[in-house]
This record gives sequence, C-alpha cells and structure tokens, in this order.
Amino acid sequence: MKPKKVWVEKAKKNAALEAVKHVKDDFVIGLGSGSTVAYAIEEIGNRTKREGLRVLGVPTSYQAFMSAVEREIPITTLEEHPVLDLTIDGADQIDEELNLIKGMGGALTREKIVANASKELIIVADENKKVKVLGENNHPIPIEVIPFAAKPVMHKIKEMGGTPVLRESGGKVGPVITDNGNVIIDANFGLLQNPTELELKLKSIPGIVETGLFIKMADVVYIGKPDYTEKIERKK
Ligand code: A5P
Repeated sequence: MKPKKVWVEKAKKNAALEAVKHVKDDFVIGLGSGSTVAYAIEEIGNRTKREGLRVLGVPTSYQAFMSAVEREIPITTLEEHPVLDLTIDGADQIDEELNLIKGMGGALTREKIVANASKELIIVADENKKVKVLGENNHPIPIEVIPFAAKPVMHKIKEMGGTPVLRESGGKVGPVITDNGNVIIDANFGLLQNPTELELKLKSIPGIVETGLFIKMADVVYIGKPDYTEKIERKK
C-alpha cells in the first residue's frame, strides 16, 4: 500500500486532468479554489501552450487568480461574461446525490456565484471527500457572514441545533476575512438528513451572505482513487 499522501495527490491530479478534457476552444471557464483544482488550472495552462487552446478564466478567489496568472491563462470577469461555459471546482464533501459541502478554503460565495453562472459544474476530488450523508465525521458547513451580524447569526444557529465556530486565521491573530471582507462561521449540524431545507433556513437569516451547501449544482464529479478515476453524473 502506497503512503496515503502520495496516492491522494496523484488521485487529485488525475481527477483534475479528466475534468480539463471537457474544456474546448473559446470556452469561458470558472476557475475554482483549493488544492485539487490547482492541478486543473495547471493543465489548462499546459493546454494553452501545447495545443494553442484559447480560453478565458473567471477566478473564484485570490488564490485562483494568482494560479491563473502564473499559468498565463487570460482572465475575464462576470461583467464581461455573465454566462460561463464550464466551471471546474473542488469540494470538501460529496454525497450520493452529488450535493456538496464547500468552503473550507473560505471562497464559497464566489464559488457559488460562478458555479451558478455556468452551464456546467464539474467537481474534482479525491476519494476521501465521498460520503453517504453530508455532515459525516462532524464536518461543519462553512457560512459566510457580514461581520456586523456574526454574533446574532451564531445565536440563531445555536437555536437551530447547530454548533457555530467563528473561523480563526492561521496566519494572523483574529478571524479569517474572506475576499469579500466578511467572516466565516463553521456550523456543525451533525448528519444533514435534509440539506435543502437547512439551506433555505440558513439563507433566511439576515447577515448570512452564503452557505457552503451546494445542492443539485454539480453536473459531473470526478473522484480520484488509488488506481483509477471514477466519473459520476448527476441524475436529472
Ligand atoms: C474552497 O473554498 C473550497 O470550496 C474548496 O473547493 C474545497 O475546500 C476543496 O479544496 P481541496 O481541493 O484543497 O480539498
């Protein structure tokens, strides 16, 4: 058995390479955030050089923007292209219906906006992200909140039976501040038997900008495994 770290990186890369096969000339692509999609951005850059592939990218975070610049992928905006051909992104948990939890990288709001603007959303991940029910292993839902509302939102989440934690920065004292100037509350609700209902309830709380629940948004998921890459399509 190979050490976990080695196969996981290979699995992430293989999933990303499969997703990039969907990219065609003149596509405007949403560029997701995180370590798995970074392999996809790298491969898009390789294809632009190798094949002369012409694409434009809309980054979902500062990280995705910097990766695209490094790979010399031309950047555009949602102002110029409000409808995208395809978005490739990662995920933190994926259930059997291809509902997702996203946002451990703090980029969930832009990721959701870009995914929603896209004709197709392809998710790339390694096998560890697959679960039967979202919320397994006490995985929290990242929620982006306007700082002014942080305390009342945490109070409401507690009333709803969740356990909220204000995400602290690893690189400086104080909370993580998103690319939109907001904070992230990681809310643990245990196993999510009805993620759609929870999403609606959370979105009705003033001060919540967006949640990391992506319900019925992913069209295709590529799951990298130690020996092969599984393709799963959402039943429509
Ligand atoms: C970023 O906010 C997230 O939604 C990422 O897409 C997610 O955390 C996956 O990241 P990795 O590919 O690094 O696991």
